[in-house]
Amino acid sequence: MDNAALLETLKDFLRIPSISTLPEHQPDIRRCAEFTAGLLRGAGLENVGLIEGQGNPLVYGDWLQVPGKPTLLFYGHYDVQPPDPLAEWLSPPFEPEVRGDNIYARGAADDKGLTLILIEAVAQLMARDGRLPVNVRFLIEGEEESGGEHIEHFVATHPEALSADAAVICDTEMFAPELPTICTGLRGILYGELVVRTARQDLHSGVYGGAVPNALMAVAEIITALKDRDGRIRIPGFSDRVRRPTAEELAAWQTLPFDEEKYRAEEAGVSELTGEPETPLFERIWARPTLEVHGIRGGFTGEGAKTVIPALAVAKLSARLVPDQQPEEAVDQIRAAIQAACPRGASAEFRLIHGAPASVVDTSSPYIRAAAEAMTEVFGNPTVYVRSGGSIPIVGVFQKHLRTPSVMMGFGLPDDNLHAPNEKLFLPNFYRGIDAVRRYLERLGAPTS
Ligand code: BES
Ligand code: MN
Ligand code: MN
Repeated sequence: MDNAALLETLKDFLRIPSISTLPEHQPDIRRCAEFTAGLLRGAGLENVGLIEGQGNPLVYGDWLQVPGKPTLLFYGHYDVQPPDPLAEWLSPPFEPEVRGDNIYARGAADDKGLTLILIEAVAQLMARDGRLPVNVRFLIEGEEESGGEHIEHFVATHPEALSADAAVICDTEMFAPELPTICTGLRGILYGELVVRTARQDLHSGVYGGAVPNALMAVAEIITALKDRDGRIRIPGFSDRVRRPTAEELAAWQTLPFDEEKYRAEEAGVSELTGEPETPLFERIWARPTLEVHGIRGGFTGEGAKTVIPALAVAKLSARLVPDQQPEEAVDQIRAAIQAACPRGASAEFRLIHGAPASVVDTSSPYIRAAAEAMTEVFGNPTVYVRSGGSIPIVGVFQKHLRTPSVMMGFGLPDDNLHAPNEKLFLPNFYRGIDAVRRYLERLGAPTS
């Protein structure tokens, strides 16, 4: 495809509001799965189809015509996060707009743009040569952003249908605009709701205030008990299994070109960076567990004043996990800490929504080395190896059920506004990403001397 047609294809992909967490978008999810299957067919892949199951369809396609050559399993996701707050978008989230070198839309970088990089790299090689230098499978999912389990179930039950030498995950970021980056580790996650009840129903705050418990106050007390003011998690046992990064990793991170003050002011836009004071920044965001609250519901939040003591409050909480924390054990620890912190007269329950362990990759893998070389060649700079604080559950799933290592080649940028208003993709990276993936396949398929 020429660049103009390719850009139109990307825009069509981005116009579909495939928000996996909102049930009213189910028709868009299906439309997007079909669209993705069309992209795979258009690239020349075979056996393309949707894999149905409990949850949103997976999209599969393969081309396995070069026996003796390696097989790669390409992964991306066609679902996106909700776009709110809508008022903060400069152009509507599902009406992609190119401004300068960027294309703005929900899903531009996470993950439709990057998924299209993989597909287009294959399409270009097919169009040019009528064949590929290596074997490929594509598995593109539609519920990464909502923690759905369809993909894990499928991988666990059909390992032979996905056999590959390495998985290529295109869903991460570059460390800086000119620095090709391999992601070497991700944090895991536990996401759930803390549900707190006090009275049978809401009570007049004047008539009963002073005599009865308040569910929102109880939620606040519990949350503040779980993490101290220095950002240290106060959940007994929670950090016991945390494995520090290796000395080599820590040393490599020290050499990354980085301006912490710029990160604070421009990227994060905060007045002060917080977190465990004795721990360096990269270790805090890549290799330490976190505890965050995402939203609290309860009581009265409308305009004006209403004097009520809420009987029910719900907080959405998540913890990021690092090697070697175990999700099951960590949930038990969170639950125990919640009970211990729950004030008199309140009852608290933690309902888990989804969970996944952290992952780290072995950078000595030849599949990672070849990816780094291909990226270096295209971007003209040495490839850096960094971890990311985000989570991509499939990496652990491929490792566990297929024993397949993952290569995380990402082309997003730190200022892409993932999950936030004005998400964008830097278009030069889109095109260089395609070149890099194409070079990667060519390298892996080259006769070994
Ligand atoms: N692509 C992101 C994860 C990511 C972002 C990795 C930036 C590296 C750099 C992925 O789509 C994501 O957002 N994952 C969720 C986890 C999921 C289980 C809800 C996350 O990290 O919050
Ligand atoms: Mn993603
Ligand atoms: Mn995401």
